[in-house]
Amino acid sequence: PNYIAVSDLANLINLKIEKLTKDLTKMGFANVTHNYILSREYVELVLMNYNYELGKQALVVTPDNVYDELRSAVNPKNLSRRPPIVTIMGHVDHGKTTILDYLRKTSIVSEEHGGITQHIGAFQVETPVSKRKITFLDTPGHAAFLKMRERGANITDIIVLVVSLEDSIMPQTIEALKHAAKSGSQMIVAITKIDRISNTKERDRAIEKVTIDLMNNEVPIEKMGGDVQVVPISARTGENMNLLEESIIALSDVMDLKAERSNKAVAEGFVIESEVKKSVGNVSTVLVTKGILLKGSILICGNTYCKVRSMSNEQGASVLLADPSTPVEITGWKHMPAAGDEVLQVSSESIAKKYVAKKLAVLQMAKEAKNVDRINEQRAMEA
Ligand code: GTP
Ligand code: MG
Repeated sequence: PNYIAVSDLANLINLKIEKLTKDLTKMGFANVTHNYILSREYVELVLMNYNYELGKQALVVTPDNVYDELRSAVNPKNLSRRPPIVTIMGHVDHGKTTILDYLRKTSIVSEEHGGITQHIGAFQVETPVSKRKITFLDTPGHAAFLKMRERGANITDIIVLVVSLEDSIMPQTIEALKHAAKSGSQMIVAITKIDRISNTKERDRAIEKVTIDLMNNEVPIEKMGGDVQVVPISARTGENMNLLEESIIALSDVMDLKAERSNKAVAEGFVIESEVKKSVGNVSTVLVTKGILLKGSILICGNTYCKVRSMSNEQGASVLLADPSTPVEITGWKHMPAAGDEVLQVSSESIAKKYVAKKLAVLQMAKEAKNVDRINEQRAMEA
C-alpha cells in the first residue's frame, strides 16, 4: 500500500505502538496517535531509522509507471531504419493544409487500393524520386500532442515550418520557431505560395526577403553555414514539392532514425486520435514507435485494453501489420483510449486485464493518499 496507519506499522516491525508514536513525534510528526496515517515516503524514512528496508516489490508504484515492467529493453540487433515523422507548422493561412492535401493526393503509399483517403490523424507518403516513406502528422495543435509534450514525449522528428512568400514571418511563425527549439525536433523551412509571383526576379527578391527575416530570427539556415534547409515551394502548382520531400529524407538520413523492427520487441506506440464509429465501436489511430503491431495483438493503453480486431491504413484498406512510424486505425478497444496515451503490447488478454486492474488500483490509492493529510489534520482537530 501507499500509506499505513501507525498501529499497523508498529505491528509490522514489532514495535510497541507507544514507542513508535514517541519516536515519530521526536522525528517531527505532529499529533501522532495510533491511527495516524503515514504516506509511503515517510514510511521509508521511518523504516530506515529502525534499519528496515522496503523489499524490492515494495518499490514505489505510481499511476505513471505501473506498466513499465512490461516494456522490453532495446535490442540493438533489431534496430533498422524507420521513416521520419513530420509535422507541419506555421502561421494561419500560410498553407499547411494545402501542403498536406497535395501530398495526400500525389504520393500516398498504398494507391493500388484506390480507396478514398480518410483523415485518421496521420498518413504516409512515398517520395517520388528516392521511393522512401515519410509519415505526416495531421493534427499538431491537437490536445493529444500537448499531452504528449507535457510528458516529454516528442514523436515528431522533423518540423516543416511553412512561411508564406507574401507575408513572411508572422506571430505564429515565431511561436512555431520557439516550439521547434524546445521540442528537440529538427526543422526545414518551406517558403510557400511562390506561384503568386510570376516574375522570376521579383520572386527571387521576395524569397531573399523571407530568408533575411529568418536570419533575423536566428534561424540557422544552410546558406549561412547552419543546418536548416530552406525550400521554396508551391503547394498549388506542385513546384518543388519533390524537393521538399527529398529534403525531408536527406535530413532523416542525417538524423539516422531507427527503431526496433521486429516482432520480438514489445510493440509500442501512441494514440493520435480516437472516436466511436457506428457499427465498429471504439476506434483509434495508433502510431507505432517500436516493434511490429499485428492484427490480433493485445494492447494496453491508459485504463483500457484491446484485442486488435481490425487494422487499416489511411485509405481504409485493411493491413495485417504495422511497423515503426506507421499509423494505423485499429478497432477492438474495450473502452475508448485517450488521444496522447501510450500503447503497449502484452502477451495475453489475462495479463492485460491484470495490469489494467493494477493501474486502476494504484490510481485509486493515489487519490486516497491525497486525502491522507486531510484525514490526519481532521483527527488532530477532533482529538
Ligand atoms: P489554417 O489551417 O487556417 O491555419 O491555414 P493553413 O495554413 O492550413 O492554410 P491553407 O492551406 O488553408 O491555405 C490558405 C489559403 O492559401 C487557401 O486559400 C489556399 O488555397 C492558399 N494557398 C495555400 N498554398 C498555396 C500556394 O502554394 N499557392 C497559392 N497560390 N495559394 C496557396
Ligand atoms: Mg489548415
